[in-house]
Amino acid sequence: MSSSADKVDYDDMRLDRTGQAEAFDALGERYDEAFPHKEGQVASAEWLGASLAAGSRVLDLGCGTGTPTARQLAEAGFEVVGVDLSDGMVSLARQQVPAGEFHRADIADLRPGGPLDLGRFDAVAAFFSLLMLPRAEIPLALRTVHHLLVPGGLFALSMVEADVDDFSIPFIGENIRVSGYLRDELRDVVEGAGFEITDESSYTYAPATADVQPEVQIFLRCRRRPADDS
Ligand SMILES: C[S@@+](CC[C@H](N)C(=O)[O-])C[C@H]1O[C@@H](n2cnc3c(N)ncnc32)[C@H](O)[C@@H]1O
Repeated sequence: MSSSADKVDYDDMRLDRTGQAEAFDALGERYDEAFPHKEGQVASAEWLGASLAAGSRVLDLGCGTGTPTARQLAEAGFEVVGVDLSDGMVSLARQQVPAGEFHRADIADLRPGGPLDLGRFDAVAAFFSLLMLPRAEIPLALRTVHHLLVPGGLFALSMVEADVDDFSIPFIGENIRVSGYLRDELRDVVEGAGFEITDESSYTYAPATADVQPEVQIFLRCRRRPADDS
């Protein structure tokens, strides 16, 4: 299969995570206070809950505090694994979702042949975590998700609609770098990484703090298409 992700590889890039985990370490529980309404995440995880067999393995990629998603998936009876770059977020997730298994790791660590092999999953959720990667890396992260899923596995993704690449923004008293796409391009990037998009919804979101700008959130429900590397 040919896609934009075939053009670059992790070997071609120098990963710069400067400040990204530190910002979330410093935020701690303030993150959930600033983003108290997570209807999109809840609805997407409900879709996974309704679509998967009991006991399915689900990965929460960039799990943050573990709420609502890892907790919701664990309460639905799934085997939940969470991964996050921030020690602080992983500690909170372990406290809030004792039934889950959490790893402090980088999305890039999960790439095929990478240092962290967590096996295959029936579904992956990545809510507002891929937007913390530079654009050149997002197709690679999507290929990693594809690799982590069983054939036909489900992928719930959310991003903020924005035409930016590795752009520094103030965020609840910290600075983080974010990337995004306008929605047609997002669809192209996701489909190009080997996914069928089965549903799309968007929310206009005003965070509960003046430090964060209102945003348009896009939620995609996807299914892994077969590929040669499965
Ligand atoms: C905006 S928060 C979203 C948290 C949660 N998914 C939610 O929807 O509330 C982004 C999360 O991605 C994590 N993150 C950022 N870059 C990452 C990376 N390269 N690998 C793994 N996690 C990362 C951050 O530490 C943070 O917890």
